[in-house]
Amino acid sequence: MKIRTSIQLVNLILLTASVSAQSNIGRGRIQGLYQKHCAVCHGAKGEGGLGGEVNQGKWQHAKTDDQRAQVIRNGLPDLGMQGFGEILSEKEIRALVIYLHELEALANKERPRPDAQGVHQTEHLAYRMELVARNPKRMWGVTFMPDGRYLATEIDGNVRFISPDGSLEPPIENIPAIRRRGQGGMLDVALDPEYEQNGWVYLVFSHGNSNGAMTSFVRGKIVENRWTDEQVLFRANAKDYRGAGTHFGSRIEFQDEYVFFTIGDRGAQQQAQSLKVPNGKVHRIHRDGRIPKDNPFVGKSPYPSIWTYGNRNPQALVLHPDTGVLWSTEHGPRGGDELNRIQKGKNYGWPKVTFGMNYNGTPITEHTSRPGMEPPVWHWTPSIAVCGMSVADGRVYPEWKGDLLVGGLRSQVLERIRIEEGTLTEREVVLQGAGRVRDVKTSPSGTLYLILEDNGSRLVRLNPDTTP
Ligand code: HEC
Repeated sequence: MKIRTSIQLVNLILLTASVSAQSNIGRGRIQGLYQKHCAVCHGAKGEGGLGGEVNQGKWQHAKTDDQRAQVIRNGLPDLGMQGFGEILSEKEIRALVIYLHELEALANKERPRPDAQGVHQTEHLAYRMELVARNPKRMWGVTFMPDGRYLATEIDGNVRFISPDGSLEPPIENIPAIRRRGQGGMLDVALDPEYEQNGWVYLVFSHGNSNGAMTSFVRGKIVENRWTDEQVLFRANAKDYRGAGTHFGSRIEFQDEYVFFTIGDRGAQQQAQSLKVPNGKVHRIHRDGRIPKDNPFVGKSPYPSIWTYGNRNPQALVLHPDTGVLWSTEHGPRGGDELNRIQKGKNYGWPKVTFGMNYNGTPITEHTSRPGMEPPVWHWTPSIAVCGMSVADGRVYPEWKGDLLVGGLRSQVLERIRIEEGTLTEREVVLQGAGRVRDVKTSPSGTLYLILEDNGSRLVRLNPDTTP
């Protein structure tokens, strides 16, 4: 079956996607606030009445979030809407603006979706999705061996090779012990850029102690299917481990002699702003674990590996091969998933600024920007649950050359986004509904691979379709 997707349709599908799986969209305290103050004129679902409809993404007076906040604050008295600035806090106004995005998502719920099978016709190219391997366990990260095999982690704790024909090899022995709880477990894997000379393999995972768990980073070698020569590259102080089972971050990326890795806020929002703890940060170290002398917080933090802070849960990190920009996506709360340009020493604002609200529909803050805090280059509101990202290689996908491919968990989407001169110029859903997209990686020959979660997980690749 051929699927045509225009950008417009795709945006609808994207919004649909966020709603399809269980989530709080449309519910919680903010729903009560909307029903109390707005539904009488704009309809229970935003379908309109005395006031216009506010769930179609078509705005006559308020094209941007800021303008919508202003309309809610000051009203449109000439048209019959009084302002709510006196009775609603700025936080509540911000949460209502997010809620209007949710009403739009709900209104688009019934739209048809493209099929995940067969040829996927996108704006610029057609591709087929090919199954490489199926795993009854949930794979989390994958990388590519020089001999054509794959090396994949499983959140439950194993790491194993997958043959080119898709068969799973026995788990690697002596792999580091993980703390499996919630989102924690064996997470990402990467090969040293000079793997063929030095044999180093990098693993990031949740490591446990009596206080809870924290993201830890090691490297080692795999000899005869056994993990050896382990070096601990990053391990937090025991007192900084936390009980929560959420937000471990855990992507790895290399640049020159450095390696970056991410740690989510571990469910402790405010700690993302503190340089005393390692969570809610992007870190940079030398590949052997030494701290680079020019790291921004050397001498200012017990964790001199910190490169950026104010990051909520960054689960994608990729160095753009053409521009040298280090891109990250991070999960927002309810709304406000972010695409960030990671730059030395910067504060990405969580939780002092966000485009989202709390899961239960209570506001977090009215601030979407503040001086000294780096705004996202793009944000997804409602959230798509961003996870995994790679850059399209022009050798295999000339029409997508340099574009970012961003995965979504709950939304089950793969989005292609094009950034030109620092701003997003194109955005398209290129895969929808095939499973939760956990990882997106580009092989050394340039092909895009995904880990999709359903009952267990699948490793798939996207082959450009050349049939006329
Ligand atoms: C007494 C009726 C009334 C109430 C209550 C009301 N509005 Fe309105 N609203 C209107 C009218 C009328 C318009 C202008 C519609 C038009 O021009 O078609 C409007 C316009 C808007 C717009 C701009 C729409 C656009 O097309 O750009 C937004 C956003 C909005 N309202 C949000 C809200 C929210 C949120 C609440 C609750 C806090 C609310 N309104 C409560 C009557 C109301």
